Amino acid sequence: GRERMSGGALASFAVYSATVGLGFSGLSQLYGETLKSLTSAQRVLDIIERQPLVDQRAGAELPSPLRGHLEIKGVHFAYPTRPDTPVLNGVDIEIRQGQVVALAGASGCGKSTVCHLVTRLYEPSQGAILLDGVNISSLSAHALRAAIAVVSQEPVLFDASILANIRYARPDATLQQVQNAAREANASFIEQLPDGYDTAVGERGIQLSGGQKQRVAIARAIVGDPRILLLDEATSALDSESEKLVQAALETVMAERTVVVVA
Ligand SMILES: Nc1ncnc2c1ncn2[C@@H]1O[C@H](COP(=O)(O)OP(=O)(O)OP(=O)(O)O)[C@@H](O)[C@H]1O
Ligand SMILES: [Mg+2]
Repeated sequence: GRERMSGGALASFAVYSATVGLGFSGLSQLYGETLKSLTSAQRVLDIIERQPLVDQRAGAELPSPLRGHLEIKGVHFAYPTRPDTPVLNGVDIEIRQGQVVALAGASGCGKSTVCHLVTRLYEPSQGAILLDGVNISSLSAHALRAAIAVVSQEPVLFDASILANIRYARPDATLQQVQNAAREANASFIEQLPDGYDTAVGERGIQLSGGQKQRVAIARAIVGDPRILLLDEATSALDSESEKLVQAALETVMAERTVVVVA
């Protein structure tokens, strides 16, 4: 059912939630209906401007095992390039451990922005984001990365090999684990590339298509084994055949996690 509208948000979100056990198939209808109609004028700009914050802080400890309780509390935010245009104005969302939540709202209302803040590509100007009660701004980049994975509209890949990109959250993953994850994510195209997993992507490497990047990001999420998974229109760049296969892969990676689906 519908839960917790964000009180003071400039733009309104609706947060739909379901407790553990709701399969991905229950959500796929919502996906199917909304995905096709969304536009994304700013996606290209977005990826150019986004740079993960450099992080040298020591980092607070997260509880172990991590439960995956996510709280967004009174969050205000404007992009640094447009400081006078507030995007979020007091957003409150609480997502309990193991919940599968869909975040819906008009194009441009700030859904992807919420994902950017939760992964700390940007920091809120006011308010806090808590993971199991710990403010994410106090975590090391590594701890945050291991806890939360995002598969987004326009996945952020680094100017490095595909292998390094998939190992992002878990640098010690074996090649076998990476290959299994790529298979589950329907990313077998990697093996057809001349340099396979060693192929460089980004500025100094090949440019992948949107769908290929998404599948690399899904493989990354599978390898990372995060407590919290953010799917920001995670299958938007795929054709319907790949979409089916990737949805099945996402269903596997969603099991027993806290999941936020931007619908
Ligand atoms: N990097 C950026 N710099 C400045 N403004 C931005 C940036 N990214 C997004 N915005 C603005 O912030 C607002 C919210 O954008 P956001 O991408 O979060 O919307 P959304 O809800 O995800 O939309 P969609 O459903 O189209 O994906 C929009 O007005 C957008 O123009
Ligand atoms: Mg978006």
